[in-house]
Amino acid sequence: MSNTVLFGAQWGDEGKGKIIDVLTMDADWVVRYQGGNNAGHTVEIGDEKYVLHLTPSGILRESCKCIIGNGLVVDVIGLTEELKELENRGISLKNRFFISDRSHIVLPYHKELDGAKELSKSKNNQIGTTKRGIGPAYSDKSDRIGLRMGDIFEEDFYEKVKNITNSKNNILNSLNCDLLDFESFNSEIKDAVEYLRPYVCDTLPILHEAIEKNEKILFEGAQGIMLDIDFGTYPFVTSSNTGTSGVASGSGVPPQKIDKVIGIIKAYTTRVGGGPFPTELFDSVGEHIAKVGNEFGATTGRPRRCGWFDGVVAKHAVMVGGINEWALMKIDVLDELETIKVCIGYEINGEEVSYIPSNINKFSLCKPIYEELPGWKTSTKKCKKWEDLPNEALNLINFIEKLTSTKVSIVSVGPKRSSTIIK
Ligand code: GDP
Ligand code: IMO
Ligand code: MG
Repeated sequence: MSNTVLFGAQWGDEGKGKIIDVLTMDADWVVRYQGGNNAGHTVEIGDEKYVLHLTPSGILRESCKCIIGNGLVVDVIGLTEELKELENRGISLKNRFFISDRSHIVLPYHKELDGAKELSKSKNNQIGTTKRGIGPAYSDKSDRIGLRMGDIFEEDFYEKVKNITNSKNNILNSLNCDLLDFESFNSEIKDAVEYLRPYVCDTLPILHEAIEKNEKILFEGAQGIMLDIDFGTYPFVTSSNTGTSGVASGSGVPPQKIDKVIGIIKAYTTRVGGGPFPTELFDSVGEHIAKVGNEFGATTGRPRRCGWFDGVVAKHAVMVGGINEWALMKIDVLDELETIKVCIGYEINGEEVSYIPSNINKFSLCKPIYEELPGWKTSTKKCKKWEDLPNEALNLINFIEKLTSTKVSIVSVGPKRSSTIIK
């Protein structure tokens, strides 16, 4: 197998950073294909902890090269801060880090508009975005008025930024928000652009040459399928295609070149931000999972909503994402529970539903139907092999495999590289 996609099969934060880092053992390239610095991917290596927002998680393995694909929206100031911190921590970027000149730029007005648009909505309609300017930047891309990384090489780049800032001020004004002064961020943008300049290039020939040479590529998804702009809980979603369908458009590598798709799931579910979440827990079990799982957003620090594993969501991810196998994460978080529930279907007004309704009001009405499985009541943290896992944990794995008709090939029992069992 050479080219593998790993994407989130829930509402994000499944542990993509950790598993990408583990898989870089056997990869030459890691490519991000969508999203921006709304993502927060945590990698723990020894005593060191890294939270990556735009940089592919392969940057932490020296033998690996990394690409920010054309499908991303790149906050130039945020990325510069992130890369400088990595360099300060001894990580070299030279000849191993590339930014697509087709990727779009997130500028301060995008972030400002993101926050302003949220505030203009009623509480129930707020998406709870990360306020990183993601929606407004993708809107500009679709509207064909966005600036791309390649535009930094044009002479009139800063003139354009200034003009667009002025036109965005009209919108901010109509939303009763403070206006932006181009001069106040001009020098910060200039510094960031100068810092990033050596890494910006056409990444298509680089990637296709790697494919020609049979080098191994990992595609690192951000967010999760339930936040996908098409297949998620619209409008409570992000603004990109988070699953396998985003890979071709976001990197320029066509579907035939993809050999394997790994879906990543937690043994329970979390969600940050607004929108319906059928298996959400509002009781002491939910609090226990949040506490033991340390469920706070890696980007915004917001508490994540917690609930039971949702098999309908997992099957939806398999269907639209062509998942070949699962990485099942954080089973250690369930170690102390007496019983564990798995949602096997929904009910709407007494009628059984076995799929994700496309309509958000209908999805809001879905009540989970549960199967209750025995817990293992023992620590899995030190398990190194499949055989070390308690029978009840193997039973849960088996149950998920049968429910989703998809095998589990990776089990994670802790945040570190070493707490990973590969079948
Ligand atoms: P991502 O956005 O999908 O990369 O996930 P995040 O980094 O936002 O959130 C996953 C969190 O769970 C991080 O803090 C990881 O260090 C942590 N983590 C990953 N795998 C495991 C695991 O198996 N067990 C536990 N307890 N924590 C884990
Ligand atoms: P990773 O890659 C979890 C959520 C936000 C909000 C919605 C839209 O770390 O899994 P946006 O800022 O994208 O317009 O917000 O999507 N969201 C995430 N939730 N993990 C993420 O990334 C997320 N990125 C965005 O909370 O509900
Ligand atoms: Mg995250």
